[in-house]
Amino acid sequence: MLSVKDLSIKYIINLFEKSIYYKSVPEPNLYQNKILMNIFFEPSTRTMLSFESAMYKLGGKVITFNKDISSINKGETFYDTMKTLSSYADIFVIRHPEIDKVQEAQKIINKPVINGGDGYGEHPTQALLDLFTIYQNINIFDKNQYNILFVGDINKSRTIHSLIYLLENFPTIKIYLLPYDGCHPDNFLLNKFDLNNITIINNLENIDIFDVIYYTRYQKERHNNNIDIPKELILDSNKLKKIKQNAIIMHPLPRNNEINSEIDNDSRCKYFTQLEDGVYLRMAIINSLINSSSEYVDIKKEHLFEISKW
Ligand code: NCD
Repeated sequence: MLSVKDLSIKYIINLFEKSIYYKSVPEPNLYQNKILMNIFFEPSTRTMLSFESAMYKLGGKVITFNKDISSINKGETFYDTMKTLSSYADIFVIRHPEIDKVQEAQKIINKPVINGGDGYGEHPTQALLDLFTIYQNINIFDKNQYNILFVGDINKSRTIHSLIYLLENFPTIKIYLLPYDGCHPDNFLLNKFDLNNITIINNLENIDIFDVIYYTRYQKERHNNNIDIPKELILDSNKLKKIKQNAIIMHPLPRNNEINSEIDNDSRCKYFTQLEDGVYLRMAIINSLINSSSEYVDIKKEHLFEISKW
């Protein structure tokens, strides 16, 4: 799983239905003989540990590569390291600060590789989790128009990129971008987005039109300088008053100060509840990559009908 662009809507809805199934059944003991390896060249809390938790819940085992005490420090190449690691597990989650580096690893490792974030490229499993949250709160298959607003480091937030690619499959969803200073999408991204469906705005005056508001932090590790988020963009209890009652507020986390913690307990804020689903969704992802599709739950009939029209 390297890019969301490779995934069909049918496959994605299957993942969602499987995740809902995993939420409701006792932990299945499927993979006693399988090992998942986490290979993280960048910090991680949620992605790494939710994959670990998911694999344990599936009955499998987990080992973790530690770059700081690896032979990379003795000058071993990326190729030799990946070639070696490929012998020690059955499925791999890789995060790397360079764009396309996980794709390069997949060419060396002849087993399933999951992109846990490649530089400012993509973060497919976070975006699937984000879409899963939207799917559980909003009927994205009906004919209504839904407005989604992304506020933050639009250029460098890989979770935003992957989620936009996924949302482009839904013609009824209109995408708005509100970038922080210096965070406008560059040409690399503009070439990848479907610009017909994207509007760039520069303030929160019309915050009442949005059904989904998705924030990200300033990705300071991908910039040469830091910025202060302007007060007008910080989401706090005053701005919350103007937001639709049935809207949802999301954030992939970690956050800095862009969402004030005073609003965390509002039922529209989904960022802490959504990460609980991350474990079940990652169980479904591991299952789909290790297993043949025979074990899949059937896609809901009404959704199949909708999908066949696209
Ligand atoms: C994100 C990431 O790593 O891109 N974190 C995550 O996996 N939930 C977001 C971020 O670091 O800002």
